[in-house]
Amino acid sequence: MMYSPVLLLSSLVGAVSAASSLQVVTVGKGGSLSYSPDTITAAVGDKVEFQFYGPTHSVVQASFDEPCTAFNGGTGFFAGMSTNGNGPNPNSFTITINDTNPVWFYCGFPGHCQAGMVGVINVSSNRSETLDIFKSNAANAARSTTPKQQQGGVIGAFVNPSSASTASTASTAGATGGSPVTQTSSGAVPSQTGNDAGQVRGEFALLGGLAVAAAAMLV
Ligand SMILES: *[C@@H]1O[C@H](CO)[C@@H](O)[C@H](O)[C@H]1NC(C)=O
Ligand SMILES: *[C@@H]1O[C@H](CO)[C@@H](O)[C@H](O)[C@H]1NC(C)=O
Ligand SMILES: *[C@@H]1O[C@H](CO)[C@@H](O)[C@H](O)[C@H]1NC(C)=O
Repeated sequence: MMYSPVLLLSSLVGAVSAASSLQVVTVGKGGSLSYSPDTITAAVGDKVEFQFYGPTHSVVQASFDEPCTAFNGGTGFFAGMSTNGNGPNPNSFTITINDTNPVWFYCGFPGHCQAGMVGVINVSSNRSETLDIFKSNAANAARSTTPKQQQGGVIGAFVNPSSASTASTASTAGATGGSPVTQTSSGAVPSQTGNDAGQVRGEFALLGGLAVAAAAMLV
């Protein structure tokens, strides 16, 4: 296991500089079919980091009108399928808020969206477009779709950069705790650096895709 000091330093610097504008959303934590929080308020330029727990989840952008369908013909963000047994996935998926429109999202694993695994960033003030309405519409969606590939966000280490900004806020990181450097060097999957990580993620995405395809054929 080799860790480049430059890599560690640059990831730490990146984490600190992003600290003021990043929010963490856990995905499927504790075995729940939910995002926590499921309602996020963010400014333009803010980043939202999704942290995945097992067994298999995703985050896919939707429109309000079509709760379990990939946004705009499959051109919205998609984290890929994240599979990691029962533990936290060492990867995260971070999106950037580009505009003032509400951003709706769901888990693309078959059945999860219908079960209520959905969320929203900057919900509209329109009382006909609430998360509760989105959720009940999702329950009636015939099926779930995803884009063909991971897109629209950045895959990174399972790290909460805001925990690195000051020692006093580290406890807000919850189960993951600690600084990015500590997590990188003692994480659950220490070999996940550089190209290795890309390959592992690719395989996860492929397995997830096959699972979706298999489940879709059963419907
Ligand atoms: C999100 O909502 C909050 C609170 O309503 C608002 O301050 C913020 O500007 C909104 N951000 C975007 C990107 O619309
Ligand atoms: C509020 O949302 C409903 C349902 O999507 C939509 O039909 C209506 O046009 C919206 N109203 C406004 C003022 O945007
Ligand atoms: C913001 O724009 C980038 C670049 O086009 C895109 O990858 C990202 O998914 C967008 N964010 C959202 C929330 O749609």
